[in-house]
Amino acid sequence: MTTTVDRNGWEAEDKIADEYLRACVEAVEDDSSFEVFKSNPEYTTILEHVLKEQGQSYLNIAREMNEEALEENLEGFKENDKYGSPNKHVYPGIDGQISPTTLRYIKNTFEMAFMINDSPISRIVEVGGGYGGLCKVLSTVCEFDEYILIDLPEVSALQRKYIDQFPDIKDKVKCIPCTEYEEITDIDLFISNYALSECSLEVQMEYYDKLVTNTKFAYLIYNLVNFNDFHYNDFIDKMKETFTFDVGRDYENTVILATQKDESNP
Ligand SMILES: C[S@@+](CC[C@H](N)C(=O)[O-])C[C@H]1O[C@@H](n2cnc3c(N)ncnc32)[C@H](O)[C@@H]1O
Repeated sequence: MTTTVDRNGWEAEDKIADEYLRACVEAVEDDSSFEVFKSNPEYTTILEHVLKEQGQSYLNIAREMNEEALEENLEGFKENDKYGSPNKHVYPGIDGQISPTTLRYIKNTFEMAFMINDSPISRIVEVGGGYGGLCKVLSTVCEFDEYILIDLPEVSALQRKYIDQFPDIKDKVKCIPCTEYEEITDIDLFISNYALSECSLEVQMEYYDKLVTNTKFAYLIYNLVNFNDFHYNDFIDKMKETFTFDVGRDYENTVILATQKDESNP
């Protein structure tokens, strides 16, 4: 892995990162690019690249976790596939087609629901949310008051355009470029899927001090392949100070479900 350009601490490979950011800018500036951004190869190296078979295994997990909620909310979840022309597939038991990436967001949503149980969730903060797909999927089953997405400036602009397609949530979702965010307090749920783990330790620690430390629950997926597992150990050591957590696997990645100690043991 070589990193020569500073992208706010993102340690992705230069060429891939440049192409991804260019695809985001094009999708924001040009409506015909927006219509197909989820199948643009320059975009899919980073996002919306879950394979059909992986989608099946996420669907199986979601079914095992809560079949009733899956059936009830499927049409709502599928709204995430309405814009950007994602690659979709047929799956047994599902009407029509669905994107395997949306299936992964459904699995993420069910894992978070399991962790949160019945605690009220008002303010959610997600770092590195891509185009905002998890926000859209989660909104089907979680009536949050505010969802704050923080990402690189080019990505943040795409999040705004994407979320604005959904009138029911657009006013509740804020998109803040990572160059402009400040400390946020009273967070109920902090999310980072395959994002914090791709940043320098310095950037991770800044997010920790300004956001993670102020949340009741945190759901993180840490991708270790191609990224520095020493960061993971340092980050986890920091979390251990104030959180209790369960750690699971998702292919080669680590899923962290964390609860502030005060919250789990009031
Ligand atoms: C692999 S993508 C994951 C996207 C999304 N969470 C998902 O699961 O589909 C990593 C995301 O992290 C974002 N990112 C990179 N550096 C960042 C930073 N310093 N602050 C916030 N987000 C960042 C990228 O722009 C990208 O949207």
